[in-house]
Amino acid sequence: MENIIFIGFMGVGKGSVAREVIKHSDYIAIDTDDLIESMENRRIKKIFEEEGEPYFRKLEKDISLWLEKSVKNTLISTGGGFYKVKNLKKIGIIVLLDSPFDAIIQRIKEHPNAEKKLKKRPLLQDLKKAKELYNERRPEYLELADIVVDVTDKSAVNCTKEILKKVKKHV
Ligand code: S3P
Repeated sequence: MENIIFIGFMGVGKGSVAREVIKHSDYIAIDTDDLIESMENRRIKKIFEEEGEPYFRKLEKDISLWLEKSVKNTLISTGGGFYKVKNLKKIGIIVLLDSPFDAIIQRIKEHPNAEKKLKKRPLLQDLKKAKELYNERRPEYLELADIVVDVTDKSAVNCTKEILKKVKKHV
């Protein structure tokens, strides 16, 4: 089993889908934001506030080197900007969870914890800027992805079925 790496914009559902995939497969899941938070013993929001974004990106780079060297048979979900690390392709099969910007924001707003979900993401504070970031990143996500799954209005279970089918075909 090769690693699977989920990439995609903030709030698209990488974490939720990863939690579903592990129920239906032998993968173990890890999340780069969770790794960073536990390494630093503080929240991403705090890291951005106290150290700035470049420091956070450096942590992502460190994690990417560790993933390439040491992690096997794992489903890795990543923060929305993690795809910029240089060795992404060497880590595993890249699966893009894709959805239009407005659908992503709608999805967050419909969540029972919507306020918390928005607050914890420094780059989602200004929706105009976030949309620009989305427009800048989307072609880069598409370019990198081995597999693209449109997750708009699909349940995590259906996304999981589609992903596992496509991964099987890809290997
Ligand atoms: C970021 C996405 C976040 C987190 C950080 C930066 C980004 O992860 O890594 O706030 O640059 O898109 P999610 O994609 O899980 O929100």
